[in-house]
Amino acid sequence: MKAEETVMKKGKMIYEGKAKKLYKTDKKDLLIQEFKDDATAFDATKRGTIIGKGVVNNKISAKLFELLESKGVETHFVKLLNDREMLIKDLKIVPIEVTIRNIVAGGMAKMMGLEEGIVLKQPVLEYHYKNDALHDPLINEYHIKALDISNDHDLRIINKRSFEVNNILKDFFAKRQLDLVDFKLEFGKHKDKMLLGDEISPDTCRLWEQGTKKKLDKDRFRRDLGDVEEAYQEVLKRVIG
Ligand code: TMP
Repeated sequence: MKAEETVMKKGKMIYEGKAKKLYKTDKKDLLIQEFKDDATAFDATKRGTIIGKGVVNNKISAKLFELLESKGVETHFVKLLNDREMLIKDLKIVPIEVTIRNIVAGGMAKMMGLEEGIVLKQPVLEYHYKNDALHDPLINEYHIKALDISNDHDLRIINKRSFEVNNILKDFFAKRQLDLVDFKLEFGKHKDKMLLGDEISPDTCRLWEQGTKKKLDKDRFRRDLGDVEEAYQEVLKRVIG
């Protein structure tokens, strides 16, 4: 029997973030990632609950990680355990949030004084230094290399994978009448291999319904647009259905 087929014993909680908790298992290099309904925005200055979000994000992330694995993008995902939990490989996370943008929105609209909705001629890749107290500041590869946050070799892998993920997910969502506006990825090392980690969900992607441009992601919570739970359920339906 393969390790991942055995029943995982949930051990001690080793980390609690804003939207997820991590637990040890009886396998040294495997963790349980549990998705919460808690929602935060603007570096946790805005807090709330999105009922059912944990279940939705767990299922969507599992499906998207499986899709990416099937296309050759290695991720930390091992298997779905139940409604709110997945088994993952333990990663040493690179403290960078990689953002890919296809359409201008959010932080890029604000930073450059642009209208949301401008379709970019090519995708934009940004690095943000993972630090809430500093508001995840935008940095570039010179900061990353000069401060040894990562190196040339790993950055090349991270960039290549990020654009691959963009192509795969853009296509996947387009088939479900959703535009992938932008999203955030995190990477980490597992046994010297760079893997995609964290989650891919309406918390970490902007998804606009084609035609109506209705926002079906966390912007409904950030901007108090209403129908937050409904939007998450709608994305789940389109991803799984
Ligand atoms: P931004 O436009 O606010 O920089 O966000 C870009 C994308 O990254 C968007 O799809 C939401 C996601 N994101 C996160 O996953 N975590 C964060 O803390 C922030 C600010 C954005």
